[in-house]
Amino acid sequence: MIEIRSLRKTYRQKKRQVQALDNVDLRVGPGQIHGIIGRSGAGKSTLVRCLTLLDRPTSGTVSIAGKDMSSLSGKELLQARRKIGMVFQHANLFDSRTAAANVAYPLELVKTSRAQINAKVQELLDLVGLAEYADAYPAQLSGGQRQRVGIARALATDPDVLLCDEPTSALDPQTTYDVLDLIKSLRNRLRLTVVIITHEMHVVKYACDAVSLLRDGRIEESGSIHDVVRHTGSDLSHALLPLPATLPENLGPGPVLDLLYAGTHATEPVISGLTKRFGIDVNVLAGTVEELAGQQFAHLRIQLPPESDVSVIQNFLAAQQVTAQPAELVDPTEELES
Ligand SMILES: Nc1ncnc2c1ncn2[C@@H]1O[C@H](COP(=O)(O)OP(=O)(O)O)[C@@H](O)[C@H]1O
Ligand SMILES: [Mg+2]
Repeated sequence: MIEIRSLRKTYRQKKRQVQALDNVDLRVGPGQIHGIIGRSGAGKSTLVRCLTLLDRPTSGTVSIAGKDMSSLSGKELLQARRKIGMVFQHANLFDSRTAAANVAYPLELVKTSRAQINAKVQELLDLVGLAEYADAYPAQLSGGQRQRVGIARALATDPDVLLCDEPTSALDPQTTYDVLDLIKSLRNRLRLTVVIITHEMHVVKYACDAVSLLRDGRIEESGSIHDVVRHTGSDLSHALLPLPATLPENLGPGPVLDLLYAGTHATEPVISGLTKRFGIDVNVLAGTVEELAGQQFAHLRIQLPPESDVSVIQNFLAAQQVTAQPAELVDPTEELES
């Protein structure tokens, strides 16, 4: 649905040149919710602007729904943009317009009849759960409600794609989950393709099917949540299913392994299987079990008895789709979130 190839964007800041996007390749499949995570300054907003051609890429191509956006101009570009809904961190509503009039705005721009506008606005406010707030002004709404109005407005022109730039960064945790629930249900009901830009890993964990890590204008890791989490040494895997960054003090001898596996089976069978097969005691040092993109994942740190044959045990676990790697301790200062 969205395909970005070799995208570069260079800004000139006085004498300096800033490479805001550096050879970005990205694919977002239809109906996906794709998270783009990165610290402040990573190039996230630039990427959103280049997707809609609000900013011209320095080089590279952007295609949405099979249309090469970078080749369009004028009227064609305006038309293509209507198929892309935009949601911003601070809703960006007109303070002097009611909720209904804010949602109506994009339809007024394309000269829709008043009767059609009224029907559409009512339908959209219903869809985002704000039917009773049609006449409220932004100042009379909570942050979450304002964001819902922003989402309804983004949907006014029946887009195929919803681009959300930090949609929940100004909201409290509960409201964040409410807004993400809304985005997920809209994706299902309207078959939208969604991009969520964020600096918060919990947003990715809760809402996304796939994720890309943007750092200094480059995509460093990208893939479905299920795939990236299995790359146990990677930054995204650490951030999605974290284990403590340090080993416990007074740790005895014996190899320490980090296991990662998916599935509904609880942690017990893997450990008891190891114990039975090799007749060894296995010491669990740390563990996380979480649902990611609708599937249960476990990340366990275990210690084996001294002199265990690690490669034999790794092979035994691999046969059960369990990834087992010698524990790799991450530098706790290298957090993804800013
Ligand atoms: N219009 C602009 N002119 C010059 N530099 C810009 C412009 N927009 C962004 N930048 C620079 O590009 C880099 C990425 O910015 P941005 O995309 O806003 O990051 P993010 O949204 O991830 O915080 C930053 O170094 C920023 O200073
Ligand atoms: Mg930004």
